[in-house]
Amino acid sequence: MGCDRWVMLVIPIIYALSNVSGELKRFEQPSKGDGSLSFLVIGDWGRRGAFNQSQVASQMGKMGEKLDIDFVVSTGDNFYDNGLRSVHDLAFEESFTNIYTANSLQKQWYSVLGNHDYRGDAEAQLSPLLTKIDTRWLCLRSFIVNAELAEIIFVDTTPFVKSYFQDPEDHIYDWRGINPRKHYIANLLKDVECALRESNAKWKIVVGHHAIKSVGHHGDTRELATHLLPILKANNVDFYMNGHDHCLEHISDTESPIQFLTSGAGSKAWRGDVKQLNREGLKFFYDGQGFMSVQLTQSNAEIAFYDVDGKILHRWNAFKQFGDHSSI
Ligand SMILES: *[C@@H]1O[C@H](CO)[C@@H](O)[C@H](O)[C@H]1NC(C)=O
Repeated sequence: MGCDRWVMLVIPIIYALSNVSGELKRFEQPSKGDGSLSFLVIGDWGRRGAFNQSQVASQMGKMGEKLDIDFVVSTGDNFYDNGLRSVHDLAFEESFTNIYTANSLQKQWYSVLGNHDYRGDAEAQLSPLLTKIDTRWLCLRSFIVNAELAEIIFVDTTPFVKSYFQDPEDHIYDWRGINPRKHYIANLLKDVECALRESNAKWKIVVGHHAIKSVGHHGDTRELATHLLPILKANNVDFYMNGHDHCLEHISDTESPIQFLTSGAGSKAWRGDVKQLNREGLKFFYDGQGFMSVQLTQSNAEIAFYDVDGKILHRWNAFKQFGDHSSI
């Protein structure tokens, strides 16, 4: 229950009301003519080109062309150190427009907010004014991209992390629109569950800023493991993609077919601070800069990770037949 299917029958007025009640906004992203889909995933990037951001951007451009990508996913922490100050903050152009200049990257960018983005004017990044400055930009707190072959659900994970509220240290977070936190999270989880349950897409992907599982600096996000992961497991999600830890990483869940994929290496990296490298299910971990690519067809998913020189560090395939999952 709670999916409100009847809303779809009583179209215009109720539809407007349902948006008010917080149902996730949906965007249509066509697949290629042959039904396949490919995209790049980058996280934790905006530093005006510094810390190898420009080098990573240039390799993304090359790989984007090679794979004929349809769009780019940003896993958040889009602008360092403290998000954007306002919609007029030049960091938007200096860290985004003027950095990701390759032809192949002139596609839609779907972006979520990270914790650093909440330390500035969080609403600035959600503003249509930014899309006027650079038409590629699309950032919302939580939303759905229906890419035919795949449904991608973007989840605002920062409000899940209790310590940002209870122990913000010297940071000031922009919690406008979030409080009361428990209510916000409960609604969001319900929306995510409904969207996943109703999805008929071949591949189900969830994107958030924070990791559910990571062996990097920040490690697992307990609140997501407790509240979000059970919903992903119950609804046959294939991939959870995130940033936050400044690394590239692939962990296979030991209890479900879910693959945890971290792409948070868009600029500053090399923390040299790793936990539990012997962790069960850990397939790959790289502490330096780089990005990830995803190529999907009806029966196959290929995930690859690249370093600043464009070298493939790790490649992994999943196969699917009649809804089954298997992988090599
Ligand atoms: C840039 O990348 C190179 C190659 O991985 C690395 O050796 C270097 O430390 C990086 N620079 C910074 C500032 O992170």
